[in-house]
Amino acid sequence: MQIEFVAGPLAATVSPVARIVDQDALPADLEAVVLEAARAARFSGKAGQACDAFVARDGAVVRVALAGGGDAKAKDRTAALERAGAALTARFLTSGEAALTVDFTGTRLAPAEVAAVLLGARLRAWRYDLYRTKLNEEQKPSLKSIRVAGAPEGTEAAWAVEAALAEGVEFTRELVTEPANVLYPASFVERAHKRLDGTGVKIRVLDRDEMAALGMGALLGVAQGSVREPKLLVMEWKGGPAGGKPTAFVGKGVTFDTGGISLKPPAGMEDMKWDMGGAGAVAGVMLALAKRKAKANVVGICGLVENMPDGNAQRPGDVVTTMSGQTVEVINTDAEGRLVLCDAITWTQKEFAPAAIVDLATLTGAMIISLGHEYGGLFANDDDLAAKLLAAGEASGDKLWRQPMGPAYDKLIDSPIADMKNVGPREGGSITAAQFIGRYVDKGMPWAHLDIAGMVWANKPGQTWDKGATGYGVRVLDRFVRDNLEG
Ligand code: BES
Ligand code: MN
Ligand code: ZN
Repeated sequence: MQIEFVAGPLAATVSPVARIVDQDALPADLEAVVLEAARAARFSGKAGQACDAFVARDGAVVRVALAGGGDAKAKDRTAALERAGAALTARFLTSGEAALTVDFTGTRLAPAEVAAVLLGARLRAWRYDLYRTKLNEEQKPSLKSIRVAGAPEGTEAAWAVEAALAEGVEFTRELVTEPANVLYPASFVERAHKRLDGTGVKIRVLDRDEMAALGMGALLGVAQGSVREPKLLVMEWKGGPAGGKPTAFVGKGVTFDTGGISLKPPAGMEDMKWDMGGAGAVAGVMLALAKRKAKANVVGICGLVENMPDGNAQRPGDVVTTMSGQTVEVINTDAEGRLVLCDAITWTQKEFAPAAIVDLATLTGAMIISLGHEYGGLFANDDDLAAKLLAAGEASGDKLWRQPMGPAYDKLIDSPIADMKNVGPREGGSITAAQFIGRYVDKGMPWAHLDIAGMVWANKPGQTWDKGATGYGVRVLDRFVRDNLEG
């Protein structure tokens, strides 16, 4: 979706043309036909509502659309404006119209608020039709551009920042959407190169031999059943003070999770192509940060593996030695995410001594049982970091809800044969998974773990996404960087 700014006053005959209106405040200058269409559609300007009508203007037929921005004083006004933009693209995406002009002439919206409308419009328009060869004309997206007219001074600059964010979210969605025969550790790395080379992000990749030399027995144990070579992808963005400690984002990148020898049941197993959603979010936020030249030092690390059953796969009961030196009894080969993350986190601490670590992972089905698809789970050893992430979640729309941790949960993963086992009992499954990762975090290191299992994929359209990959994670991390690491 192109966002174009058009200069000068708008001709009366431009069609289709849209306006954002506040709730219960339909502009008086609209034609009676438009007002009647709004009434007939029960359109009151609530966030996310849209309607349209055809009117005669200067001898031409003009399609006029309205989108609701909700209550002008609402505290979630930004989200409401995103929904207004999203409602417009959802309505016009396959309408046959190639361009939609949004007329902000006379608006009371600030530049950042207009940018929110545009962000919602762009994000909601994203879809991935690469593998559809038989779409008929009416099913194909027709809308190629949003033209912005009459926006207040400063909107283009505000939009440039949000456009970078949109690129990051879209990159994540692409990675999450690609099937596992296309996206596997090596091809994930290739795509990262393709999108990040030239942006100022420095990429490094550790291969199997290098990881073996470092003693990453847990990560490599997961990879052992797959013919796909594992990779540790490292992306560095140094936009902050020279020599300043980076903040590290670490992503679970299981490009397909069959469960391994603890094989998952067939129903729904195809979903496990998006078991790399944490890594996808990390790659996406690195792109966003670089594109908007964030004034912060951030490093993104993705542990990329495929979890397969095989003659060479690891077995339940195997004991692996992690890079930290701690040993793990692998009770269930399907609890593989934590095995990938523990070595990725150990390496991150040794390599970067970061200021803080935030890991993201589609780690447990139990997280979806707890929180559904509304909040990602937040686990943290540091209240300040937790508070900042919760605030970033609220502000960005990638919402988080804090979960408990503690020693009573921790002892549930003690093992009779090794330092720990990789699963606890069924109860509190997301918490024991977090406790497991916590055992690899150095004393004094601020750390948060985001279990985003319920968030990276949607079975129905949402606020600013169609069904499919949501891009969850990019926005909360970007907002966390903006509000806490920059300026
Ligand atoms: N990738 C899954 C978690 C998951 C399940 C994410 C469903 C999204 C949807 C993870 O690797 C896994 O298999 N976890 C197990 C852990 C269990 C064996 C302790 C789970 O949640 O069942
Ligand atoms: Mn699994
Ligand atoms: Zn998994």
